[in-house]
Parts: sequence; structure tokens; C-alpha cells
Amino acid sequence: MIAILAIESSCDETSASICCDGKILSNEIATQSMHAQYGGVVPELASRAHIQNIVPVVDTALQKAGKSLDEIDAIAFTQAPGLIGSLLVGGQFAKSLSLALDKPLIAVNHMQAHVLANLIPEHKPSFPFLCLTVSGGHTQIVKCESPVKLQIIGQTIDDAAGEAFDKAAKLLGLPYPGGPLIDKYSTEGNPLRFQFPEPKIPGYNFSFSGLKTAILYFLMNAGKSQIYKAEFAATEEEKKSFIENNLADICASIQQRIITILLKKLTKAAKDLNIKDLCIAGGVSANKGLRKAITAAGVQNNWNTFIPDFQYCTDNAGMIAITGYYKYLAGEFSDLTIQSAARARW
Ligand code: KG4
Ligand code: ZN
Repeated sequence: MIAILAIESSCDETSASICCDGKILSNEIATQSMHAQYGGVVPELASRAHIQNIVPVVDTALQKAGKSLDEIDAIAFTQAPGLIGSLLVGGQFAKSLSLALDKPLIAVNHMQAHVLANLIPEHKPSFPFLCLTVSGGHTQIVKCESPVKLQIIGQTIDDAAGEAFDKAAKLLGLPYPGGPLIDKYSTEGNPLRFQFPEPKIPGYNFSFSGLKTAILYFLMNAGKSQIYKAEFAATEEEKKSFIENNLADICASIQQRIITILLKKLTKAAKDLNIKDLCIAGGVSANKGLRKAITAAGVQNNWNTFIPDFQYCTDNAGMIAITGYYKYLAGEFSDLTIQSAARARW
């Protein structure tokens, strides 16, 4: 039996998980709520909260799994990408444990882990599969030939899908992170009421910055025109009441456009590469509209579609643990000189 203790601290969730032979026994997550009042994650506050949370989170993960530290075979941690101060807390903690317990260390790429969250359930995709990874910092189409052989075949050239959700929410006056709120309001709205433009980007790449500008101008027009130019500027009052009276339809229309942009590229990649097993991953894969849309596209195109359980969509150590497990099997270990990489994108 191979037992992995995994630690995730790349952004604003402190998480620990225990995985035995590829089965997740615990996935403990401490969420930091203080960032909402600042409209985004404040790195310094995030690092300090990780320092406070990490010992209790690891303790609880061990307890819930019914394991002691002696029973752990290796320690996995998120090396990058992420906020450097946050990464350092989890990284130093993992290295210290590895040194103290004399157990091997496994450095994990957070984006690879989002993809491999699809290998957690019993029912797994077959290789090669494609994964649409949509998070707050990344939007990628990844071709997976094995748990440790992944290739990015398309990605965003500007904003990530999660960023598009969060920036749209901010323009609507909703608090951070706005993605889940747009999801919530969309369920009551008409997704066809407002037509937002679709970017023309070649290949499997994405762009979301134009959508943000279109929403900005659309709101400045306060529904007076569907033309996305600043010249129809409404008063602040008109804009506010337009948003209030049409929130569900606006959210549903924005969400619909983001989903159609994402699925169009995934469909193209699946057809071009003749791959039938398709997954989604990352924080935005928690979106109910996207989950429904990929399932429907699967039925239509004869794909096998896979969606992680909600707890494994947003940042969590369960996905680091499963990746650690497969890296253990592949013999991919690190030594204590390994550094947390100061890279927001990797
Ligand atoms: O993967 P994640 O937890 O962190 C990163 O690695 O970035 O993703 C966070 C992103 C945020 O932008 C958040 O708004 C978005 O995922 N998100 C959602 C939903 N839940 C989280 N976006 C749309 N609908 C949701 N239900
Ligand atoms: Zn993430």
C-alpha cells in the first residue's frame, strides 16, 4: 500500500489530503474568507493565514484518514504556479516533514493536479484524453497521454475563464470571487437575451479580454443599445437600475458566451485529434452551466465526459495527492534543494 500526504497552498486555500493506493481518504480545506472585502486575494494576508492553518489542516486530514505520520510513504506538495509567499509556506512545511520523517518528497505542478482530479473517481477517462482546465489563472486544453505525460495544446492569450467570470462580476458590482455568483444568478436568467461577441482566435487558443471590454460598454449603455461602444453612456443611476432589473439575464448571457467559447475549442480539438474521452477541471468546472453543457455535448458527439466532484474542482489537496501517487509510481521524486517556483503561470 502506498500512502501519500499532500499539501496545497498555492493561493488562498490551505489544504491537506491523504491518499492510499489512489483512493482519497481525506481532503481537508481551510478557506480564507477575508479576501472578499478587498475584491481579490491579498498575497501577504494569504501567506499569513496559511502559516496559521497548515498544522491544524494536516492534523485533521491525518485524523479523518485514520493515519499517523509513520504510515505515510511520501509527501507531495504544490510547487507552482501560484503566489510565491503562499507556495513557500506549503513547500517549506512539506520539506521539513520530509527531512524530519526521512520520507521522499514529490513536487507537484498545480495545473497537472487539476487535470488529474479526473483520476480520483472509480470511473476514469482512458488515455489519451483531453482536459479543458479552467481556473482563476489558467485556461488550457491539455492532451494527456499518461498521468505524467501531458501536453498543453491550447491556452488563453490573455485573461483566464475564471478571471472573465470574476471581472464580469466586478463590473456588475458583485463581490469577489464572482464566478460562483454569476453561476447562481444564471439559473434564473435567459442566456439568449443579450448577445456578447465571440473572439476570433485561431487554433485551440482562447481570449477573454474582449468580452470584458464588451461587458463594460454594454453596461455603460445600460441596455439602450446592443452596440458595444462607449458613446451611448447612460447615467450611473440608469446603469445601476438596469443591472438590478436584469441581473439574471445579464449573468446567464455572459455565462453562456464563456461556455460557448470554451466548448467550441474543446470540440474542435476532440474532432481534430479524434479523442473521445473529454474532461473538465479547475475552479470554473464547478460551474453548473458548463457541467451541463459538456455533458450535453458529450451525448451529441458520442464522447465519454468526465467532471470532477465539486470538492476537487476548486483548489484542494486531493488533486495534489492523486498526482503525488502517480508520480510516486513513475519514480518522480524531488530532493530538498527543490524550490517553490515564483511563477504565477507555469
Ligand atoms: O482552480 P481555482 O480554485 O483556483 C485557481 O487555481 O485559480 O479557480 C478559481 C476560479 C475563480 O475565478 C472563481 O470565480 C472560479 O474559479 N469559479 C467559478 C465557479 N466556482 C469557482 N466560476 C464560475 N462558476 C462557478 N461555479
Ligand atoms: Zn487551482
